[in-house]
Amino acid sequence: MTDRTYVIDEMISAKAIAARIEALCREIKAEFSDTDKLVVVGLLRGSFVFIADLVRELDLPIEVDFLEASSYGNAMESSREVRILKDLRAAIEGRDVLVVEDIVDTGHTLSHVTRLLQSRNPKRLKSIALLDKPSRREVDFKADWTGFEIPDEFVVGYGIDYAQRNRNLPHIGKVRFTD
Ligand code: IMP
Repeated sequence: MTDRTYVIDEMISAKAIAARIEALCREIKAEFSDTDKLVVVGLLRGSFVFIADLVRELDLPIEVDFLEASSYGNAMESSREVRILKDLRAAIEGRDVLVVEDIVDTGHTLSHVTRLLQSRNPKRLKSIALLDKPSRREVDFKADWTGFEIPDEFVVGYGIDYAQRNRNLPHIGKVRFTD
């Protein structure tokens, strides 16, 4: 837990997020229009709000699964070593898969996870991230769809936490320390 004091300044409103998800889902539906069933894989825990809104806009046959990879822990620095803490329930060989992430920061997490899932021979594997901080990138990786590109700020809300707090904020806000 952090005991620093901070305030949260709104960066992306709940309304803007909803509008962007609608537009993204039109593109995803076009890409997977012929699917018999799309496995939507949420990366825990930060994507849980995003995936909930996303699947309700996707009128395709879907299945939801989750995967947990280690990331920041309780600190604000990303770790370069990615570990799988919880794997998928479903086998994805020969299936259509969409991986859903909250933020691509250094890129280590999503590039590791997509490489891992690709090695299981899915039919099609695509990825989507709500937020992208391109200026922080350490590995060459871009999600197939991105909600918003943001500057190098630490953000919370809409499922995203700072030391496990603020996930329930309906919008994306940036953390500003006041101490
Ligand atoms: P990456 O491996 O550096 O791309 O890190 C991705 C993960 O770091 C995300 O899934 C988040 O869990 C976490 N993360 C990156 N930036 C932020 C942030 O601004 N706020 C909270 N978590 C973040």
